[in-house]
Amino acid sequence: MLVTVKDLLMDAKKRQRAVGAFNVPNLESLRGVIQAAEELDVPVIIQHAEVHEHLISIEEIGPVMVEFAKQAKVPVAVHLDHGASLEECVKAIRLGFTSIMYDASLKDYDTNVKETAELVKIAHSVGVSVEAELGEMTNSAIGSGEGRLSKASDFGNADLFTNPQQACEFIEKTKVDSLAVSFGTVHGKYMMEPNLDFERIKAIRTATNEAALVMHGGSGVSEADYKKAIAAGIRKINYYTYMNLAAGKAVKKECLTQKDEYFFDELSLAATNAIKENVTGALKIFNGLD
Ligand code: 13P
Repeated sequence: MLVTVKDLLMDAKKRQRAVGAFNVPNLESLRGVIQAAEELDVPVIIQHAEVHEHLISIEEIGPVMVEFAKQAKVPVAVHLDHGASLEECVKAIRLGFTSIMYDASLKDYDTNVKETAELVKIAHSVGVSVEAELGEMTNSAIGSGEGRLSKASDFGNADLFTNPQQACEFIEKTKVDSLAVSFGTVHGKYMMEPNLDFERIKAIRTATNEAALVMHGGSGVSEADYKKAIAAGIRKINYYTYMNLAAGKAVKKECLTQKDEYFFDELSLAATNAIKENVTGALKIFNGLD
């Protein structure tokens, strides 16, 4: 059943849990994520990142995502991840996405406020919710991170983290429904153990009167850290790199070493099953089912 991200975030807040939000740039990941959510009977967000346009365009995968969401036995929201332009956000809205992220976090603060507020007006007028980002979420030098590549000195650099008072002002001025906050996670494969600032999440949660806070760079984090982040106030966890790696490992281990010849559909199924298993593990933790 197709739902809005806003509904899922309200439900997550009530349950003091986080909704898993998974990037799905191919049918293997789309099917693996939906199957995992249905088997556990939990809601889920499927999202298309603008940086994955080289893998599959929003025009190709968007309608398929919306159709999978409608057919699913659990509530599914369809979200644009890291929309970088007004055009991409409007395209997602027209394709039936129920939520968009407008990411102007690398622009100066005033521009981020102004552009995000404009997008919120447009999206809210057609019932679509908006996520924005404040603070800098850097990328691991390894893997499929998004946006800006981090310098080693950026890793864990608290100067780039979200300021709680500014987060409160940003939400008041823009009226966004959820906010991606920076507290030590990075996109892509972790080069070293992340050192997460849970006190900062709590401070942002208090300053923003319990706004829905989003964790990007959410795969590759330990179970204990997920639990602490959710207890501190994280309500949506963006997850991709480690389910993508799980699929790659499964194809290599289960297939490429055993026979001389393979049909592609064998590899595709191995990848789907590995993604489903990896996502099942994450969804259990996010929904307190472990
Ligand atoms: P990972 O790279 O940690 O999977 O994060 C994905 C993400 O934050 C998408 O926006």
